[in-house]
Amino acid sequence: MSQKFELKNLATGKSTQLDVMSGSLGPDVLNISQLTKDMGVFTFDPGFMATASTESRITFIDGDAGELLYRGYPVAQLAERSNFLEVAQLLITGKLPTKAEYDAFANSITRHTMLNEHLLRFYQGFHHDAHPMAMVSAVVASMAAFYRDATDIGDPRQREIFAHRIIAKLPTIAAAAYKHTLGQPFVYPRNDLRYCANIMNMFFAVPCEPYAIDPVAAEALDLLFILHADHEQNASTSTVRLAGSTGTNPYAAISAGVASLWGPAHGGANEAVIDMLDEIGSVANIDKFLARVKDKNDHVRLMGFGHRVYKNFDPRAKIIREMCYRVLDKLGKGNGPMFELALKLEEIALKDDYFVSRKLYPNVDFYSGIIYSALGIPRSMFTVMFAIARTAGWVAHWQEMVTDPHMRIGRPRQLYTGPGKRDYVPFEQR
Ligand code: ACO
Repeated sequence: MSQKFELKNLATGKSTQLDVMSGSLGPDVLNISQLTKDMGVFTFDPGFMATASTESRITFIDGDAGELLYRGYPVAQLAERSNFLEVAQLLITGKLPTKAEYDAFANSITRHTMLNEHLLRFYQGFHHDAHPMAMVSAVVASMAAFYRDATDIGDPRQREIFAHRIIAKLPTIAAAAYKHTLGQPFVYPRNDLRYCANIMNMFFAVPCEPYAIDPVAAEALDLLFILHADHEQNASTSTVRLAGSTGTNPYAAISAGVASLWGPAHGGANEAVIDMLDEIGSVANIDKFLARVKDKNDHVRLMGFGHRVYKNFDPRAKIIREMCYRVLDKLGKGNGPMFELALKLEEIALKDDYFVSRKLYPNVDFYSGIIYSALGIPRSMFTVMFAIARTAGWVAHWQEMVTDPHMRIGRPRQLYTGPGKRDYVPFEQR
């Protein structure tokens, strides 16, 4: 039998019944959409601590069990047996593709990797030391000017071309940003290479000598992308949904997602972790650093630790930690001092009551930067790599939203605590 909750105003005696909605997995939710009409009040939940912002069929996280499912498939299985493009297709279409469907998708992505030459000129306007996330966000937003037809979000073909274009071009946009910071010539995409091999080539090849793509590096990148591809209603995905809910051009919505991902509390954490490990410097300094983290007046956080949903462990962090051993070994880099320091930091933090009592565990970004570094990717590009992968999830969520016949503009309300109504006072009377 379906459950109902009764909500009663104890002052007036007025009451209303709230329906309980059940998903296929996870906790039930209270439907409060009639609350304002029935009771004249809003709910208050800063940071969405207890609010489901939407219904979705894409990704499920069980924060206590440390489980992450893309369209029902455990991420660990996908990491072991799938590849990033297949995962992107799964996220967007909802099903594992047949071989023919996969080949058609992969071929279409490959054929859309080039950038309009006019778009390439945008980079010249940036200083060499511009943060790549600023460049990527700006160039992605500019795509709205090149692909105005994509604004026709009701047209399935336009939605499909948009999805393929953005997944195909994000690596090219990222590589162009990187080459710009180096002052090196832009390297065009190569259609004979797979998605991640092409990224390695665009990042590291130069016209004056041959560049051999390391298959171990390309495979490691692909695996990291699978793990970063989606994570239900996180801040950047919610940003894409909110921007997209106005019916804006989808490239503009993705650009908003890139901007949201950049912050250190979200995707920017991978860069911040390596900065932090640098600052700690050696195992001998860990205790001193953790004392600062625990000091509420110091405002220092243990970057790469903690998560709004995972309160046991982040399954992605576990996979990436194991991957560090394999990849560093295969690349002939041994464990490396930074990995050793991170391992020790994790070990000490997980024995410390501060972190244990708050259920703070390593998240996806605690170890990802170590792999990116081993692949030769510079620190300022870490969050850009995250953005390439998360584009798959952003597209899937945007599409789910705009094809929902009940889509409405996202428009939260507020608890106003500013001044009451008052009259304007001219300068001479202030
Ligand atoms: N270091 C130290 N203390 C922390 C940390 C941390 N990394 N994370 C949370 N805490 C503490 C808070 O100070 C708070 O303590 P209190 O109850 O004594 O006040 C408690 O744990 C709860 O923290 P909140 O900030 O309320 O948790 P919230 O869910 O809002 O934040 C977040 C989650 C942003 C991920 C947080 O844990 C954090 O800042 N972590 C570091 C940044 C990071 O790694 N971000 C990447 C997240 S994964 C991703 O987006 C890809």
